[in-house]
Amino acid sequence: MSKPLLIGHRGARGLAPENTLRALEAGIHAGAPWLEFDVQRHPCGELVLLHDLTLDRTTNGHGLLSDISWAALRGLDAGGGEIIATLDEALDLIDQRARVNIELKTWDGTAAAVAAVLRERVAGGWPVEQFLVSSFHLPELFEFRQLAPEFAVGVLLCGVPLDWAGCANELQASSLNLSSEFVDARLVADAKARGLEVYVYTVNDPAEYRRLAALGIDGVFTDYPDRLGTL
Ligand code: G3P
Ligand code: MG
Repeated sequence: MSKPLLIGHRGARGLAPENTLRALEAGIHAGAPWLEFDVQRHPCGELVLLHDLTLDRTTNGHGLLSDISWAALRGLDAGGGEIIATLDEALDLIDQRARVNIELKTWDGTAAAVAAVLRERVAGGWPVEQFLVSSFHLPELFEFRQLAPEFAVGVLLCGVPLDWAGCANELQASSLNLSSEFVDARLVADAKARGLEVYVYTVNDPAEYRRLAALGIDGVFTDYPDRLGTL
């Protein structure tokens, strides 16, 4: 039984404020070979790392990301004095020290903006294999796929579709990124039969990690790469 690889979740949100540069550094320091973070497009066109559509839970701001000015947004505290980082700042910090899973949280131009940033990075020397782009918003992910077919994409699911892993075919996805609540062995088997990798979020408990490993999954998103890394 091989060990599923570790993907730092929102950087490594168990070790530092989620989706901040400090969380990314913490994930790298903990030895995570992959980092996942959430990306949204601000109305000014900039891409930022943020999970919720609102600012209240993770920052000292209030209301919707789409309602705050860029200057005010950059003045917010995202935890421990960290700012809300841009995608470029995150990639500068990572500097190819880990592979990167960008989760598209918004639509309306997010796919195109992310595709442009990643293409620029590849032109600057990043291997295309360093990136995986995923989303629950499958039309936005499909748009990304059309715009930038050279990058791997992962279908995010929080449930079990009627056609099992079938939606991954149309998207020509390389992975199925599944909620731990819906890891049905038949869904895993169908994904594997289609040649997909299977990654599961969010796994912090060593016993759950071992149980999922026995099912043949390929990786887990974890808030604590330090905890599971020692197993
Ligand atoms: O990409 C895996 C995981 O991050 C999806 O759920 O809500 O943590 O972004 P969420
Ligand atoms: Mg996410």
